[in-house]
Amino acid sequence: MSNLPIKQLQERFSDQFAENINLAKHSACRIGGPADVLLTASSADKLKEIITFLNELKQEFFILGGGSNVLISDKGIRGIVVLNKAKHIKFDLDSQPPSVWAESGSNLIRIAKLAQENNLTGLEWASGIPGTIGGAIYGNAGAHGGEIADNLISADILLKNNKQYKWKNEDFNFEYRSSKLQKTNKSIILSSTFKLEHGKSEDISQEMNRILAIRKKTQPPGASLGSIFKNPPEDYSGRLIDAAGLKGISIGNAEISPKHGNFFINLGDATGSDISGLIDLVQKTVQEKFGIMLELEIKKIGEW
Ligand code: EPU
Repeated sequence: MSNLPIKQLQERFSDQFAENINLAKHSACRIGGPADVLLTASSADKLKEIITFLNELKQEFFILGGGSNVLISDKGIRGIVVLNKAKHIKFDLDSQPPSVWAESGSNLIRIAKLAQENNLTGLEWASGIPGTIGGAIYGNAGAHGGEIADNLISADILLKNNKQYKWKNEDFNFEYRSSKLQKTNKSIILSSTFKLEHGKSEDISQEMNRILAIRKKTQPPGASLGSIFKNPPEDYSGRLIDAAGLKGISIGNAEISPKHGNFFINLGDATGSDISGLIDLVQKTVQEKFGIMLELEIKKIGEW
């Protein structure tokens, strides 16, 4: 902590700067210890300014979006966390194809809902997927036969050398739940543009409601990180965890959902260690019973 340029950061980013901030409220499963320093970016320009400054200082940082795909440790994150609250969204109904531009901290569900209100089809699959568009691009989020790779036209990326580039869809090397960004050290998505198509609001609504109803039927409510593990080739993590008899098992106040095996629920004041314990238990048991090593879809961050 003493190595952090606290004074410089405080002077430069006064009202966006905070110290020793608990991160649980920025996590979808309501778990996580403190960040030494939290810098909050309220626009893509601010995000760029903050990251550029940190890169110039050669200062490490972690970007937190919706907190829906990260398990933050109970000890928290030493150093600087940048909270991405850049949420501006603009539709272009006259472009060919029609499109939406969104800052990287925009909520994916909100973009999908606004697309429907603008009679634009193409993002129905994203109904009910929590998290920011930046996080969704980073991990090529998907559901119900759709994924980010189907919609993304391009994104503005800031590299570690502070140069800004426009990456086209093909530059991301999208694969199942992964993109090149995961292999490119400290590249930041500032904003992105998605292609859509003109459609009928009622039809779009109907499809979104259909998808939401499936989610409600198969996925549990409550504080969770969504799918904990990626699906292994030609099988499903949820099915394997179920078949291993692990549903309903809990450690501390974290439970493997009785409704869907790949969801771990914070029943109250669960800790990161509770969830981490369940992860280890599931990996060990599924490996022993079926010879399959489940791979995490979420990322464990902070001090473990
Ligand atoms: N299954 C069981 N027991 C369970 C859970 C599932 O037998 O406890 C079986 C189901 O019956 C089904 C299969 O496993 O035959 C797959 O389950 P499901 O249809 O619920 O889909 P999933 O593969 O678990 C994926 C995504 C979800 C996304 C849904 C819907 C992954 C890892 N998960 O779930 O994404 O919402 O499809 O499209 O790809 C997320 O990424 O956080 C997420 C929630």
